[in-house]
Amino acid sequence: LRTEAPSVWKYKALLPVEGKPVSIHEGGTPLYRCDRLAEKIGIKELYVKHEGLNPSGSFKDRGMTAGVTKAMELGMKTLACASTGNTSASLSTYGAKAGLPVIVLLPEGKVALGKVAQALIHGAKVLSIKGNFDEAVVLVRQLCDEEKIYLLNSINPYRLEGQKTIGHEICDQLGFNVPDRVIVPVGNAGNTAAIYKGFKEFMELGITDSVPKMTGIQTEGACPVTKAFKMGVEDIVPEKNPETIATAIRIGNPVNAKKALRAIYESGGCSEAVSDEELIEAQKDLAQLEGIGVEPASATSIAGLKKLIDSGVIDHDEKVVCVTTGHLLKDPEEVMNISTKPITVDANIEAVRKAVFSR
Ligand code: F0G
Repeated sequence: LRTEAPSVWKYKALLPVEGKPVSIHEGGTPLYRCDRLAEKIGIKELYVKHEGLNPSGSFKDRGMTAGVTKAMELGMKTLACASTGNTSASLSTYGAKAGLPVIVLLPEGKVALGKVAQALIHGAKVLSIKGNFDEAVVLVRQLCDEEKIYLLNSINPYRLEGQKTIGHEICDQLGFNVPDRVIVPVGNAGNTAAIYKGFKEFMELGITDSVPKMTGIQTEGACPVTKAFKMGVEDIVPEKNPETIATAIRIGNPVNAKKALRAIYESGGCSEAVSDEELIEAQKDLAQLEGIGVEPASATSIAGLKKLIDSGVIDHDEKVVCVTTGHLLKDPEEVMNISTKPITVDANIEAVRKAVFSR
């Protein structure tokens, strides 16, 4: 399985994709041991897998390198997705690399600035839909069915195949040990299922001997998966008006909910929902205690860990990996809204000194 430069394609033997990879070095992201944050939260061994350090700044690149390589293999001529932002940024990036035109459908006014900027600069056709993400998904599915356009939402199984390498890499980076628990933000619910598949594959191949408890975190304003888990059922009830500051996971009808719930139940994990306030606190803690900058949706994994420790669901002795899915710079506007403003100072040393020593 080994190649020189670690990336998604290190695991090529386990990816059902042929031909020359459309690749810009996705995967191979760091797994940070976070002792200062662990101490604050009250857990012994905490790691953060920072997927924000992929080429377009989110874990979506792992799925997109596999999915766009498959599109080339199939001879598809146009690519499309609906997105809360990151999928569109990633697809635009990989479409550009492959030389294929890209169409993206975004919910108007609800996509973080950095993500729209990426889709635009990489040359995608950007449609701002007067509706939410769930409505955009319905539209893009019909468009792709009727116009022979290749759909690259996580309904596409090759996307999940690429994303399962997060599981492979975590094992690899822990010296072929499996953590007790992996905590993942849940939106359209593909990543939870994909990462579980990665761990399960390694176990079935005899590389490891267990799977981690898959733990999916949503926000209180958009949590159909958490509600289904708490009722002990396998089907969600879609939410009509999902709302959260974490626009990436502002989703009421996740297409992969069933797969994610199966991963959670089968692995003995759980699902929890956090408030916007809790995820903002976690975002600041990650940034200020560990130097890890993430977008709001990503911070739900840390906020969820804290909540589940406080409620006694997670043991202080567990070895936990939190996945942070997207980079801080995706959503600079949110940061400006939650932070104290810069101090304006006259351009002379007295004024600077006064500001430096003021409280
Ligand atoms: N975190 C970030 C930063 C995301 O962008 C997403 C999903 C998730 C978590 C949730 O992952 O959908 O596999 O459960 N963003 C999608 C998009 C929906 O369009 O970019 P999931």
